[in-house]
Amino acid sequence: MAAPTISQQSDLAAKAAERASLLGFITDADSETAIQDGLAELVPSIQLRRASVRQATALLRKMPSPEVLIVDISGEDAPLAALHDLSEVVEPSTRVLVVGDRADMNFYRSLTRDLGVAEYLYKPLAKEMVARMFGPACAARPITSGVLQGGRIVAVTGACGGVGATTIAANLSFYLGEELKRHTILFDPDIYTGSAAMMLGGRAGTGLRLALETPSRIDELFVERSAQPVSERLSVLAGDEKIAEVADVAEGAGRALLAALRRRYNFVVADVPSAPLPLYRELLMLAHQRVLVMDPTLSSMRNALRLLALPTGPEQVRRAVLVLNRLGQPGGLTRAQIEEALEMNVDIVIPYQPRLVGNSATLGTPAAASSGGFRNGILHLAREVAFVSEGGPQIKIPTTTPFGIGKLLERFGRRPQ
Ligand SMILES: Nc1ncnc2c1ncn2[C@@H]1O[C@H](COP(=O)(O)OP(=O)(O)OP(=O)(O)O)[C@@H](O)[C@H]1O
Ligand SMILES: [Mg+2]
Repeated sequence: MAAPTISQQSDLAAKAAERASLLGFITDADSETAIQDGLAELVPSIQLRRASVRQATALLRKMPSPEVLIVDISGEDAPLAALHDLSEVVEPSTRVLVVGDRADMNFYRSLTRDLGVAEYLYKPLAKEMVARMFGPACAARPITSGVLQGGRIVAVTGACGGVGATTIAANLSFYLGEELKRHTILFDPDIYTGSAAMMLGGRAGTGLRLALETPSRIDELFVERSAQPVSERLSVLAGDEKIAEVADVAEGAGRALLAALRRRYNFVVADVPSAPLPLYRELLMLAHQRVLVMDPTLSSMRNALRLLALPTGPEQVRRAVLVLNRLGQPGGLTRAQIEEALEMNVDIVIPYQPRLVGNSATLGTPAAASSGGFRNGILHLAREVAFVSEGGPQIKIPTTTPFGIGKLLERFGRRPQ
């Protein structure tokens, strides 16, 4: 039997796509199986067909774009050009996932940062890897209206205790608020032993516990009274409760609090402990972006994998940004050892600088204020979580990104900068 022509395939695919939440064009059977098995529980309808990225582009020219699209660039001589052509034909709102055969980091960055690809995996694919890396983009819904509108919520979590999560959260907030001049609040939900406020030289307030116990009290006035200013654009929200007095945190308190904070701040950076308490899990689910901090130790690696496997929230289009902190600490693993064991690249590396970090914690002046490796790491992190441009101190939506908002702006006649 003759193979269907491109236009016949297009008709078939168009019919399928009307109900497909995920459409994939893959070039080999093993990868198809890994994708099918890896995403089966997350995606109600998966349509996979055997085609190259060029063939996929020809088909998608004539059919509606799915919510999530997977394409395969294996064997392509000019994969970036092929993806650029694809970006001309898919809807800006489509989340594009890419499978290929190249393993280098620069290539990965070009895809995810410059082209706006949601995630990239290279072959051979394993179903666990597909679930972990492609799952977040498949599970995410486009940002919707409703309670959660306004600023961006970034949840910073340590893989285990003492890896530097609070240090990273505080320095990220400092950079966003004081240097990029975005209204930023560092929120510490650990009302007993949290140290986030201290790290910025800020104070804990008194209203947070009451708000968590009685979310109906949370309104703009509460935010105004409870947020403690550190500088003009940087505030902290933290508690300082006696450990003996256990707060009775109400269900939905996290949601109510974040909704109120988002109305007032461009960025809410939450220092969320990894402990499985309902409030912490609620915050992780509601964040737009998770940041997972680890140090170069075995226990950190083991827990990082566990945390990466947690279900993702509806607003999370990307997997957690992985920060390797304290790289170079005595007795620590190397970056290569960690990446090999995790079977993934870390996104941000922050060096071990005990004198700088120790002094700044004591003085309440952020380490990121001093130039060097620590500051560079925080700058990179800010760019990852907030679309901050490399060059200047302003937030820039990546208008050169073909998939996503860049395309949208072009369509409305605004040239990418
Ligand atoms: N890059 C770094 N170089 C050197 N020391 C660091 C670095 N980052 C953090 N530290 C130090 O590591 C210790 C733990 O940091 P921090 O309190 O931020 O970790 P944490 O993950 O929030 O811990 P906890 O589990 O207690 O909340 C602190 O003494 C801090 O000064
Ligand atoms: Mg901490």
